[in-house]
Amino acid sequence: MNTVTSIAELRAELDAARAAGLGVGVVPTMGALHEGHLSLIDRSVAECDLTVVTVFVNPTQFRPGEDLDAYPRRLADDTALASERGADLLFVPAVEEIYPPGFATSVAVRGITERLCGDATRRGHEHFDGVTTVVAKLFNIVQPDRAYFGQKDAQQVAAIRRMVADLNFRVRIETCPTVREADGLALSSRNAYLSADQRERATALVDALRATQSELSDGVRDGATLTQSALRRLADRLAPDDTVEYFEIVDPCSLETVESVDRPALAVVAARVGSTRLIDNFPLEPKTDRPSAIPTTNPIPQGAAI
Ligand code: PAF
Repeated sequence: MNTVTSIAELRAELDAARAAGLGVGVVPTMGALHEGHLSLIDRSVAECDLTVVTVFVNPTQFRPGEDLDAYPRRLADDTALASERGADLLFVPAVEEIYPPGFATSVAVRGITERLCGDATRRGHEHFDGVTTVVAKLFNIVQPDRAYFGQKDAQQVAAIRRMVADLNFRVRIETCPTVREADGLALSSRNAYLSADQRERATALVDALRATQSELSDGVRDGATLTQSALRRLADRLAPDDTVEYFEIVDPCSLETVESVDRPALAVVAARVGSTRLIDNFPLEPKTDRPSAIPTTNPIPQGAAI
């Protein structure tokens, strides 16, 4: 595996690969790779001729108060892991390579990014603007055939899919299932910040999602009823100082709240356990003979309205 730091070097490598007819996959990351990222690399390696892993701690997606300097940076470990899993190229640009002096452009996906984690009160859409801007840049730099993202960041994936459809990027977005610990907790580099007690309480999120799925199988389809029930379960398990930011049943593409789960939906949750913010989600499938419509590749036709 070759590590490159400049756009010019990366493009030279990729131009040669494309001239040889190779299909290119990209796995965008901020490094500190864990099994969740590695599952994305595995999928790209299995499906593409050449896999590029990008490692870039993107300053524009950090919210006010979030400590960019404290974000884990483990390039030696990341290099070893990406190489072991069969990646071909590691792209590790400096901040100035991505945002040179005078950089003034932002790619903002409205609507999808203004609710849930992007709620106006949390100004979270600024975080998503940072994500879509850097992902748009990475797509233009790498020009991949496929790009791999984790289902755990469902809102990020929905925004990226919308951007790809709206801006006619020629890339197929592949969403890979959330990788979980043995007790169900979704893998996240933030899990390391949890104490033993908090770690136990954090499983309330996945348990509430599981319970929602099982209530749905029992025939409860009303979104408000499912939500109230999940919020009660979370309140029973979390400590008074923990906070549930949201639990909602939403459409997987638009992320609008759904009133009744008559078609595939997503149960999404965000909570602070101690000071650690965790998110998770589960697909919800009403019992039907129809095949699943939960998207794993681009569901939005280019130019379509949501
Ligand atoms: O999910 C992430 O790690 C980041 O948001 C991404 C997609 C690499 C953009 O910086």
